[in-house]
Amino acid sequence: MYKTSEKTLFIGKNLIHVPTCGSTNDLAISLLQQAQAAEGTVVITDHQTAGRGQRGNQWQAEAQQNLTFSIVLRPLFLPVKDQFYLTICTALAISDYLQAKALPDVKIKWPNDILCQKKKICGVLIENQIQGQSIVSSIVGIGLNIKQQSFQSSMATSLYNVTKQEYSLPEELLQLLSYVEARYLMLRSGKKNDLLQNYLSNLFQLNETCTYRSNNALFQGIIRGIDPWGKLIVETNHGSQYFDLKEISYEIE
Ligand code: BTN
Repeated sequence: MYKTSEKTLFIGKNLIHVPTCGSTNDLAISLLQQAQAAEGTVVITDHQTAGRGQRGNQWQAEAQQNLTFSIVLRPLFLPVKDQFYLTICTALAISDYLQAKALPDVKIKWPNDILCQKKKICGVLIENQIQGQSIVSSIVGIGLNIKQQSFQSSMATSLYNVTKQEYSLPEELLQLLSYVEARYLMLRSGKKNDLLQNYLSNLFQLNETCTYRSNNALFQGIIRGIDPWGKLIVETNHGSQYFDLKEISYEIE
């Protein structure tokens, strides 16, 4: 069963495991409201009944087959304008973890989907609690497909589907938490530029001419990077355009 982490300084030292819940992000937020969650607390479940994804989507994962968990962070050191660095750290940590397992063709699809051979293997939902100029807490929700073999979408995959190996969910959790802590400590020690460069060098379709959709119209564009607020910069026939999450989607073949 799930164990607290021995390899990290604070992430996963306090671990709350529930057999089932609506959403681990919601459970973590309610712990915060009761002031019961030290930095690094991990809330994990075997089965979410109302898992939430980005853009208001649902997150569906078969019970006991995947990792569905949330980490409580307290990034008081991080100015609100730099909150996208939490996305950068998390996405990089997950791609570090997958690359260390030698999974092929691991990429970060902006802002923080993790792809393996162009299929989504992991989703991230980060919810920040902001007071004035401070991020008083951040809930980093991670859904990593591990053992699940069939998916509604042909664009989803899992570690098992890619490698055909067996995995222990508790063991994979501890490994992943170490990578999250390492990237978060980089941010805490001010290495923003390194993080940004690492993120860009793992970014899906960077500098490639590809098809995107915006306002229901298809167009050709080249991703050139992200702006300081995390908007996606795409070079188009009409010059450089800046997109927020809901303003652009990818047409992946
Ligand atoms: C996405 O790609 O749309 C984001 C998916 C995030 C899913 C995780 S599972 C654990 C945590 N709890 C939730 O309700 N969502 C996140």
